[in-house]
Amino acid sequence: MKNCDLTVKIGKMVLKNPVIVSSGTFGFGEEFEDFFDLNQLGAIIPKGISLKPMAGNPPPRIFETEGGLINSIGLQNPGFQEFIKNKLPYYRHLKTHLIINFFGNTQKEYVELARRFDRIPGISGLEMNISCPNIKKGGIVFGVDPQMAFPLVRAVRKATRLTLIVKLSPNVTDIALMAKSAEEGGADALSLVNTFRAMAINIHSKKPELGNIIGGLSGPAIKPIALRMVWEVHQAVKVPIIGIGGIMKAEDAIEFILAGASAIQMGTANLINPRAGIEVIQGIRKYFIQNKIDRIQKLIGAFG
Ligand SMILES: Cc1cc2nc3c(=O)[nH]c(=O)nc-3n(C[C@H](O)[C@H](O)[C@H](O)COP(=O)(O)O)c2cc1C
Repeated sequence: MKNCDLTVKIGKMVLKNPVIVSSGTFGFGEEFEDFFDLNQLGAIIPKGISLKPMAGNPPPRIFETEGGLINSIGLQNPGFQEFIKNKLPYYRHLKTHLIINFFGNTQKEYVELARRFDRIPGISGLEMNISCPNIKKGGIVFGVDPQMAFPLVRAVRKATRLTLIVKLSPNVTDIALMAKSAEEGGADALSLVNTFRAMAINIHSKKPELGNIIGGLSGPAIKPIALRMVWEVHQAVKVPIIGIGGIMKAEDAIEFILAGASAIQMGTANLINPRAGIEVIQGIRKYFIQNKIDRIQKLIGAFG
């Protein structure tokens, strides 16, 4: 039983275990290498990349709240060219999967980025962040309208042969509907959820706690809602699901797997404990041994 099989298949990728570190919470990886061997992770997802560099939102950009974190980083990133030149070479010596999180303000930008990343060796998969405003359609977020998400995913699908993961926003009424339109568009897998729109006010200054007023809530506060969404999506689609939302420990990860996730991502946890990812892998293994589970497939969606 010592050799329990934690490998999972997501599109064309075979992950050695289901634990992935999520976009925006693990820097570009290097920052964490003193804490553990990054090769032990199932995959790494660096900060989301856009075509051009982005400065992000005005400070303050992070506010800690009960059980969570509200961030309004605003997708700050160095842009495609700088990423390829100065960040990508770091990953060449790693023996884990590199999944690129990317986004655009128009369909054209999404397609262009997918096409460019497709040609670059060393990238295993693409994670499309569709929680971005479509500037051509008056700023409506792609990820809240299934009729906008479907053609977007279909166009990106045509631009790449890499494993395509669509990352869903939880800021919708019916996440299963969004999931189905992404699957129909050609997604190989879905990751959910991104952050929940949130805000906080300082009662003394009577000012917002974030420069942008609104940010995205993550961490343990969102876990039960994210879990419910994973379960709803699991009932609606056939493609693998990557569960995200407040996963801090192995027990949380196992809950998501039981709800139907084939793999999980950890975000806020990395900011609190840089070794959180590795500790969750160890905890999952321990659970498998204690419960005599030899393959993760036996656990996916197995609750009830
Ligand atoms: C500081 C910060 C930056 C983030 N940046 C990105 C990003 O660039 N792209 C993206 O798709 N998600 C981004 N996210 C969302 C996370 O990847 C994740 O979906 C979310 O935080 C929920 O997971 P958690 O509760 O484990 O943190 C960010 C989250 C945080 C806290």
